[in-house]
Amino acid sequence: MDGNGRWAARRGRPRTDGHRAGVEAVRRVVEAAPGLGVSTLTLYAFSADNWKRPETEVSALMALFRWALRREIVRLKRAGVRLSVIGRRDRLPEALRNGIARGEWETRRGTRLHLRIAVDYSARDALVEAARRCQASGEAPTRAAFARHLAAATSPSMGHPHTLPGEQAPDVDLVVRTAGEQRLSDFLLWECAYAEFAFLEPCWPEMDAEALAAVLADFRSRTRKFGALPEAA
Ligand code: FPP
Repeated sequence: MDGNGRWAARRGRPRTDGHRAGVEAVRRVVEAAPGLGVSTLTLYAFSADNWKRPETEVSALMALFRWALRREIVRLKRAGVRLSVIGRRDRLPEALRNGIARGEWETRRGTRLHLRIAVDYSARDALVEAARRCQASGEAPTRAAFARHLAAATSPSMGHPHTLPGEQAPDVDLVVRTAGEQRLSDFLLWECAYAEFAFLEPCWPEMDAEALAAVLADFRSRTRKFGALPEAA
């Protein structure tokens, strides 16, 4: 969700205004996604490297996540959205940790959309943790076993009563990055092995249902071969 800061700067406003406008874009995209055939949506809200930002911006973001969770939970529940937060949780403020646990619990029965929000997330850290878990389990490191340990390392909520045992999110089909950035930035490295990419010029706060529909239509027009030859027409 890139470009909140630039969106605000272009309007002569503080960066935090851009993040607030980013929350409104999150709402538009989450509302539109199920109707456009999206069943799992992962939003990269805060990377493990985002702790390097100034303390004022970091605490404003943490407060914004907490506020947005509180404001949106009832709406998410009504819309059949199940919320999961991926990433480390131990470095987050306690109030936010509690808000996340409550949000995950309240929305646990949602079946229209699995909304995953990545907070304090690093794919590399998750991969290292998965390797550690795999080794500790004594299991042979097959793709299937590793993917299971990676899912557990990625979702701290795994093992909680509302999480299906061994639940793994599907591989990523499409990565959409806004504001003209063309990088993966430590996002779901294993899960993106065969992902398609779409790099959009508008900033995240400009995202809406129409832009999402357009990027999905483009994605559906692509031929995905997964290393094989395209099917004969
Ligand atoms: C990157 O843009 C954006 C972030 C680090 C924060 C993203 C957070 C939100 C959109 C709020 C979402 C809220 C919820 C509840 C999920 P940037 O700050 O790097 O912008 P820039 O590249 O223009 O500086």
